Amino acid sequence: MPHDLPAAFARWTTRASDNEIAKGPNFTIPVKILGIETSCDETAAAVVEDGVTILSSVVASQIAHAKYGGVVPELASREHLRAIVPVVRLALEQAHANLDDLAAVAVTEGPGLVGSLLVGITYAKSLCFARNLPLIAVNHIEGHIHAVVLEAGASIEYPALALVVSGGHTHLFEISEVEVREGFAYRLLGKTRDDAAGEAYDKVAKLLGFGYPGGPIIDELAPHGDPHAVKFTLARMKGNTLDFSFSGLKTAVLRWVERHDLSAEIEGRRRLQGASAQDFLPVTPQPTLDLLASFQYTVIEELLRRAAVSIEEIGARSLIISGGVASNAGLRAASRAAGLACPVFFPTPALSTDNAAMIAAAAFPKLRAGHFSDFSLRAQANLALA
Ligand code: KG4
Ligand code: ZN
Repeated sequence: MPHDLPAAFARWTTRASDNEIAKGPNFTIPVKILGIETSCDETAAAVVEDGVTILSSVVASQIAHAKYGGVVPELASREHLRAIVPVVRLALEQAHANLDDLAAVAVTEGPGLVGSLLVGITYAKSLCFARNLPLIAVNHIEGHIHAVVLEAGASIEYPALALVVSGGHTHLFEISEVEVREGFAYRLLGKTRDDAAGEAYDKVAKLLGFGYPGGPIIDELAPHGDPHAVKFTLARMKGNTLDFSFSGLKTAVLRWVERHDLSAEIEGRRRLQGASAQDFLPVTPQPTLDLLASFQYTVIEELLRRAAVSIEEIGARSLIISGGVASNAGLRAASRAAGLACPVFFPTPALSTDNAAMIAAAAFPKLRAGHFSDFSLRAQANLALA
């Protein structure tokens, strides 16, 4: 909720003219924002200058979940509690900044796991209270979109289509510029009705005895298999045809596994807890590699088919693909080979998965527009972007 600019923030602004005042604060010196991200199983902090220059980006991934084959919410909040102080300290150190250098603190408000979000939000509020800094709430999905905007900046033309594909989301948004200084307006075009794309990767990987997260392992193994070996049916959606569904594909993989006796190889892989894709390769027979390649081929088909239709529908001039699944090499290659009607932008792999640089970057237009939160900010597990 907007409130009077705190003294620390006022230092960063000069009111140049009435016109500038109408547009929002005008900065004369670089603005450093500390971003904090704790929505799932990564404790992350970053310092970003002027919304475009990453001075530091620290991500502590919680490995404690690997043996459960998925994120355990209770464990995640405890790990965030343990990591938040050293992670923020390291982010400031690496940026050669201290709290007095900051113009604001940005934090993920949702969507995500409530217990995890709460750790970041409470820590951000405490910092803001102690240092009289403004607090900026950021939607995690908007953060993923800004991971691309942060890097590609002016090359992106609007309206743009954003495909956000992660462990929690598979969403298509139309993005239009509201006003260059104020950021974007979003319109939801379609989303998954059941599993997210990354979740489907993780579940298939778990079923087959690979580690968690499954996406990177399947991505690395898929090129060793034949993507046309197993024919999976593409989901046909009633109602909004731009919605996604991955539960049918997941069930089809399960049925295939039941029809083929894989128990010995699955057991073998389960014993290799925490192994890399290269370690899994010798204990993964060709039919299973073919299954993985076919699964990945189908996921990519589902994603790019709807993206292509959406591009036509909204006349998109750019396609942004972001979120953990955007680091998938197969998706990157296929999107470039698909002959889409507009250029495609991906974040570098380090910014595809959860990080805090994207949160600090997404906060910059909000800072310029004076969109601050007060201390009543709460974690919102199901926060929508549009
Ligand atoms: O964005 P992210 O770090 O967290 C969420 O917001 O969910 O995404 C994590 C998800 C996991 O499901 C993981 O398996 C998937 O992204 N992922 C991948 C790849 N790297 C991460 N999926 C496919 N291919 C990859 N290379
Ligand atoms: Zn994410």
